[in-house]
Amino acid sequence: MSRILIIGSEGQLGSELSSFLSKNIEHDKIVLSDIRNNSSSDLTYQKLDALNYDEIKKTVLKYNISEIYHLVAILSAKGEQNPMKTWDLNMNSLFNILELAKNKFIKKVFWPSSISVFGETSPKNNTNQFSVMEPSTVYGISKLAGERWCEYYNQRYNTDIRSIRFPGIISSNTLPGGGTTDYAVEIFYSFLNNKDYKCFLNKETILPMIYIDDAINSIFNLMKENKKKLSIKSSYNISGFSINPSMIFEKLNKINESFKIIYEPDYRQKIADSWPNSINDEYAKRDWNWMAEFDLDRTIDIMIKRLKTKYND
Ligand code: SER
Repeated sequence: MSRILIIGSEGQLGSELSSFLSKNIEHDKIVLSDIRNNSSSDLTYQKLDALNYDEIKKTVLKYNISEIYHLVAILSAKGEQNPMKTWDLNMNSLFNILELAKNKFIKKVFWPSSISVFGETSPKNNTNQFSVMEPSTVYGISKLAGERWCEYYNQRYNTDIRSIRFPGIISSNTLPGGGTTDYAVEIFYSFLNNKDYKCFLNKETILPMIYIDDAINSIFNLMKENKKKLSIKSSYNISGFSINPSMIFEKLNKINESFKIIYEPDYRQKIADSWPNSINDEYAKRDWNWMAEFDLDRTIDIMIKRLKTKYND
């Protein structure tokens, strides 16, 4: 029996992907791993350092892994505090997985890229798959380089590495850590705790976002598509909805009028300003029928519902 391995299973994407997969495939086909000692999930868990090729290879052989979801990265804002560490982790952990694929230890890989591959010289609106890409953060540079390497391995070694450029992901399971789009998650915690929210971006900053269920579905659908249909060998643009902080605030304020927001932009403003407002995802739509289901209203409803359930558990 072959299994799938999630590396980075305790993070924002990993924790939601593992709970989604556990509802859709047999539990003994899933192996979770992260740098932490333990997992909050009941699934098989292995502590793993994504920078250690031998350790990952051992795990792959031990559990007969055929597919890896490699979700380890230092995000855009945190990355700026330690550029070299970010470059090292983001790139060398990816190379470990690419090499395992090239050496035929595994058959298929999913690796997330990001809208951070775009920069100030990219078109702002409806940003195309092949727009100018001059990222200004070390995270964005590592994602763009990673994309080029994924394509290189796919073309040169016929590997099957699949990837999506994620917008900001709004989710309730775990807090994202160190991203520029994190405000769109944090604001819900303040709202439910009856606290004012101090927003680190200004009210007009429009960024592309996606609700986690759409993000997880996109991964699942891309991974099950016939490889022949995938014309993009690097990473697919996808789009959910575009919002600025005041759009979320206005809607939350309608639910509870005493909720307040204070805008105190910091160094993350510059990062956000370098990213697109909206994304053109025609290739994902055409190649693997991508379609987002959640808009801002649905996202707000479900976030409040899920976070309330989480608090009451
Ligand atoms: N959510 C990420 C970040 O803000 C973007 O991919 O860093």
